[in-house]
Amino acid sequence: MNSTVKNTGEKAVPGGNDVLVEFEDGIAWVYLNRPEKRNAMSVDLAREMNVVLDALEIDDRCGVIVLTGAGEAFSAGMDLQGFFRTTDAITDVERHRAYRETRAWQWRTLMHYAKPTIAMVNGWCFGGAFTPLICCDLAIADKDAVFGLSEINWGIIPGGVVSKAISTLMGDREALYYVMTGEKFDGTRAAEVGLVNQAVPAEELKDRTRELAKNLLEKNPTVLRQARMAYKYAREMNWEQAAEYLTAKGDQTTFVDTEKGRDKGLTQFLDEKTFKPGLGNYERD
Ligand code: COA
Repeated sequence: MNSTVKNTGEKAVPGGNDVLVEFEDGIAWVYLNRPEKRNAMSVDLAREMNVVLDALEIDDRCGVIVLTGAGEAFSAGMDLQGFFRTTDAITDVERHRAYRETRAWQWRTLMHYAKPTIAMVNGWCFGGAFTPLICCDLAIADKDAVFGLSEINWGIIPGGVVSKAISTLMGDREALYYVMTGEKFDGTRAAEVGLVNQAVPAEELKDRTRELAKNLLEKNPTVLRQARMAYKYAREMNWEQAAEYLTAKGDQTTFVDTEKGRDKGLTQFLDEKTFKPGLGNYERD
């Protein structure tokens, strides 16, 4: 079966098997789609997701990605059969390739994606699922979603890149507590420890996520992309490097911004007095 393209009679929709995509007014809802396996992430799913993310990055129907899960789970983590057993049984070269394909979508691509990304955590979120969750720019959770670094419970460490990922958002005490105990926690606690921006009741989850996505869609997309990238790179630098980099990045942003947002903002505030930056967006064409 073709896992990359579902022909709707109009423009093709990427995915269709382990990954489903729905377009809605600039939002691409991207579903991990193995609900019967609680959206556990297999090697096949990684391959499909790589194709989907590549396609959406240059698809005009997608201005923002929302990554979520079909059914009752966000994702139950790495597939114990379709990732662990599968990669145990293949050659070293094939395993290297499977790891590379998994790393590609779960963090490399998402972290540096050209369009904003929001994780919508609708249910179970375990182990390896923390990586794409953290590598989305923003995250909203069902307050009753269940999170867990369950690895310690069955004899492995939070590997892949989970331990690194959690260290970028959680404090050491919280991270080590959950790494070492494997204790579960809910969406409300996930917001407290900084894993998600907000936790809301299940019935409000999609509306709140949509509202956030629409907010992002109203921004100048070039400046939004540059701002996200600038933040992510600058946090890895020392102060001197960050100051030089951010100054240069600011100049580059002005250069590549076809909307000329900086000029418009200055003109609307200083000359026309039609806009206050502290109170909202400048008037875009
Ligand atoms: N890998 C492979 N299969 C998984 C899976 C995983 N991570 N998580 C769930 N599944 C499968 C189950 O084996 C089961 O398959 P089956 O119907 O063929 O027996 C199916 O998904 C449904 O799971 P089940 O355990 O019956 O659902 P549940 O709603 O009772 O429990 C969980 C949900 C998420 C609590 C439970 O499935 C679980 O603990 N999963 C493992 C979570 C984990 O530790 N992930 C970290 C991996 S690094």
